[in-house]
Amino acid sequence: MSRPPIRIAPSILASDFGRLAEEVAAVSDAGADWIHVDVMDGHFVPNLTIGPPVVEAVRRATERPLDVHLMIEAPERSIPDYVAAGAARVGVHVETCPHLHRTLGQIRELGARACAVLNPATPASAVETVIEDADQILIMSVNPGFGGQSFIPQVLDKARQIRAWADQRNPELELEIDGGIGMATIAQAAAAGVNAFVAGTAIFREDDYAAIIESLRKEAERARS
Ligand code: DX5
Ligand code: ZN
Repeated sequence: MSRPPIRIAPSILASDFGRLAEEVAAVSDAGADWIHVDVMDGHFVPNLTIGPPVVEAVRRATERPLDVHLMIEAPERSIPDYVAAGAARVGVHVETCPHLHRTLGQIRELGARACAVLNPATPASAVETVIEDADQILIMSVNPGFGGQSFIPQVLDKARQIRAWADQRNPELELEIDGGIGMATIAQAAAAGVNAFVAGTAIFREDDYAAIIESLRKEAERARS
């Protein structure tokens, strides 16, 4: 069974926003596969972060694909703005999408990869009917809104379930996890079938970005082999 490669996606939420372009360039040079960008609206989640102009500035600072995680209500209204700003992959929370199949189609029609995101308390069944219509599924392993929270291990059963559906129906599906990922947790997620790993605090708190990215990648590869 050939599954997608391991991807390490540093979350810029944990970076120094005062030196954002420098931080993005540094993790890109250090071996990041994707740059994970957290967009929060202060409604769907309690925190408020950035919008399209900052996404556009991040895009100018790197050649790596931008993995844009929309934690916003009614995402269908602003998806075109995020794709125009340079999002290569767009994640929408299923909790915000009554017409999930349509919204994933909208992202693909705009030329980006479509990702459906599940909060910790949302069951895997919420994406069962869109496995073929998504390029990526993101499982939240913390309640979204803030970096630096503790990993919720109960979400790993969802990873196993979704990976099993994908093996049958869409083997190229990227299965991503976000929240509390670091050296202590990445192996469990990789063993459960996750291939793409968002890490904020675990990467940006280190001085040597290349060393931590390499260690995370090796640990994930070891756990899934
Ligand atoms: C949380 C965000 C995450 C966050 C992860 O709402 O979606 O991407 O930056 O941070 P860490 O890796 O510190 O848990
Ligand atoms: Zn995120």
